[in-house]
Amino acid sequence: MPLNIVIGAQWGDEGKGRITDLLAAQADIVARYSGGDNAGHTVTIGSEVFKLHLIPSGIIHPAVTCLIGNGVVVNPRVMLQEMDALAARGVNVTPACLKLSENAHLITPAHIALDKAVEQERGGDAIGTTLRGIGPAYTDKVSRVGLRAGLLADPEALAEAIYAHVAMHNKTLRQIYGAEPLDATAVAAEYAAYAQRLAPYLVDGSVWLDEALRNGRTVLAEGAQGTLLDIDHGTYPFVTSSSPTAGGALTGLGVGPREVGQVLGVAKVFTSRVGSGPFPTELTGEMAMRLRGTGANPWDEYGTTTGRPRRVGWLDLLILRHARRVNGLTHLALTKLDILSGLPELPVCVAYEVNGRRLEQFPTDLRLLARCRPIFHTLPGWSEEITHVRRFADLPANAQGYVTFIAAQLGIPVSIISVGPARAQTIWVGEE
Ligand code: IMP
Repeated sequence: MPLNIVIGAQWGDEGKGRITDLLAAQADIVARYSGGDNAGHTVTIGSEVFKLHLIPSGIIHPAVTCLIGNGVVVNPRVMLQEMDALAARGVNVTPACLKLSENAHLITPAHIALDKAVEQERGGDAIGTTLRGIGPAYTDKVSRVGLRAGLLADPEALAEAIYAHVAMHNKTLRQIYGAEPLDATAVAAEYAAYAQRLAPYLVDGSVWLDEALRNGRTVLAEGAQGTLLDIDHGTYPFVTSSSPTAGGALTGLGVGPREVGQVLGVAKVFTSRVGSGPFPTELTGEMAMRLRGTGANPWDEYGTTTGRPRRVGWLDLLILRHARRVNGLTHLALTKLDILSGLPELPVCVAYEVNGRRLEQFPTDLRLLARCRPIFHTLPGWSEEITHVRRFADLPANAQGYVTFIAAQLGIPVSIISVGPARAQTIWVGEE
C-alpha cells in the first residue's frame, strides 16, 4: 500500500518529526494533513537541529516532495519564514518540492487576536492554546466564512475577502472582548505580499496526490499533535480544533481509505502533555524533573512552539489502547527509551480505578477522567546506557521486557525504537 500514516498516540510531542524524518527517506511524498503552526517538529541531523512548525519535516530530504494538505490551517507569514530559514541553511525549497493545497485555510492576524482574547476571557479555565490562531481559523472554516489558500492566486478576491474578514472580526474583538481592532488595509497589504510569493506553490492537493499514487509514488501522511488532542477523540475541551487521528489524514488530504497501508502510532515511553486538563499518571517533583530534562537539550520536554515545560508522567496503556482503536494502528514506534536508563523501577499504568470500579478503556469524559486513579504494573528497570544500541537483541533484558510488555498489551508490534535524538540512534525491530 502506498500511503502510510504517522500519528501521535498520546498528547502530542511524541517524537513524530523524528520518526517521520526516518521514514521520509523511504517515501516520495510527505504530506501534512491537520493542524497548523501549533505543531513543533524537532529533527536533528548531525550537529544541525531543525525546528519546524508548519512545513513537513520531509523537506529536509532532497528527494522528497512535501504537501501541506487541505486539512491544515496555514499562517502564510510562518510558512514564508520557515521557507527562508530552510533556504538559508541550504535546504532546497521551491514549488517543485513544496506544494500548498488551495483548499487549506489561511490564518490571519484576526484569528491570532481572537485566540488571545478568548483565552484571556476564559481566565482560570483557559485551554492553554499555543495562541497561533488555530481554533479561530478552524471555527471560521466550519462556520463557512474562512479564507482558503486558493485566494492567494487571485489578488482582487483576496483583498476583498480580507476586508470583509477583518471587518467581521473587528466587531467581535471590539464589542465582545474590548480588544484593539485590526487595520484592514495593513492586513490586506501584508497578505498581498504573501500571495505574490506563495501563489506558485498552490495545487489541488487531492488531484495532485491521486496522480502521484496512480504513478506508484509512496506517500507518508505526517500527523501533527496527537490522538488525545483530537477534536472528537481527545480530552475535550482541552484539545486542538482539528482531527490529528487517522480519519483526519483522509479528509485532510482528500484520499480514500483503500490507499492506506501502515498506520504507525508514535508513543513516548513515558507520557507528556502541554496545556491544561486531567493527566492521571502525572508526576511532580524530582522524578518529573528527571523525565523532563533541564531544557539544556532541544529534545528535553519543553514545548517546541511555546517553550513551556511539559507536564510529564508514567506510561499510560489506556491512552495507547485508545490510540490503537481510534486510529486502527498497525504498528508502534517507541521514542526516548534511553531516558528510562538508570531508573530502578518502571511503573506502567494498566488500568484506572474510579468509584471502586476498574476501568481498562480510556474515558474521554473529562469529569470521569479527572477522578481516575492509575493502577500500575511495575516492571524492573535497567542501569545500562543504551544510546549506542542498534539491535533489539543488544538491549538490556529489562529494556527488551519493557518494550515486549507494551507490544503484548496492545496486540500490535513495535517496529521502531529511538534511543537518542540523532537519526542513527534508531533500532529497526525485526530488521536486524
Ligand atoms: P491550539 O491547538 O493552539 O488551539 O491548542 C489547544 C491545545 O492543544 C493546547 O493544550 C495546546 O498546548 C495543545 N497543542 C497544540 N499543538 C500541540 C502540539 O503540537 N504538541 C502538543 N500540544 C499541542
